Amino acid sequence: MTQEPSPYTIRPMELGDIPTVVAIDRLSFPTPWSASSYTYEIKHRNMSFYYVLLKPEAGEGFHAEQGWRRWLHSMASLGKQESRVIGYLGLRLRSSDTHISTIAVHPDWRGKGLGELLLLTALEQSLKMKFSAVTLEVRPSNHVAQRLYRKYGFRFTGVHEGYYRDGEDAWLMIAEIAQVVYHTRLAELRRNLEPRLCNRQPTERATNVHVGQNSEGKL
Ligand SMILES: CC(C)(COP(=O)(O)OP(=O)(O)OC[C@H]1O[C@@H](n2cnc3c(N)ncnc32)[C@H](O)[C@@H]1OP(=O)(O)O)[C@@H](O)C(=O)NCCC(=O)NCCS
Repeated sequence: MTQEPSPYTIRPMELGDIPTVVAIDRLSFPTPWSASSYTYEIKHRNMSFYYVLLKPEAGEGFHAEQGWRRWLHSMASLGKQESRVIGYLGLRLRSSDTHISTIAVHPDWRGKGLGELLLLTALEQSLKMKFSAVTLEVRPSNHVAQRLYRKYGFRFTGVHEGYYRDGEDAWLMIAEIAQVVYHTRLAELRRNLEPRLCNRQPTERATNVHVGQNSEGKL
């Protein structure tokens, strides 16, 4: 049986994405980044990669609409150009590792494997650039994110006391990605994820909604 391709798209973040990214940030982190922080990151692309995750094209949901209904719908959306951004990822390049500076999925789209898809993108991109480690910070209280990171082989390396603006510590985590055994595991995780990504609808609210964390360093 051939696997249906994932309907989601990941592409580099553009300046025009920032209003939607900032809106998702506000829903995801207690102390969100400003638009100017994202502008800065985008303009310094030699040291970082910022990506957005796009929801599937609207066409999929409109099969049932025929004739004039379909035409009315397309007229109604003419000129509106609603953003398809439902998540994002920030990856900074450092001397010995890449660092995940931010990762979030819109609350309506959580619990569908999209956080995994973003994390996989960070790990695969780091491998492509021949980095041997990926690091990040996470709040001790952010159990959802920790579970996601552990699934992808991140381990705890230390504590940065009072790291976040509200005084919470940060746990430092690392994934060592150079070993062949890690590559094999990553390929297996991607294979397992693909079928899950073929469910194109937003999640019913409250199934997996978790308000995330933030800091100056964001994660
Ligand atoms: C963390 C976040 C990106 C996860 O995205 P998501 O799309 O909901 O997660 P996924 O559906 O890809 O789930 C992947 C894994 O995350 C963990 N996870 C996701 N939702 C969970 C929940 N409600 N409870 C426990 N673990 C959960 C699980 O390990 C899951 O793997 P599994 O399905 O095999 O159990 C998302 O919750 C988010 O945007 N949170 C707010 C921002 C944030 O906290 N970012 C991280 C800062 S360190």
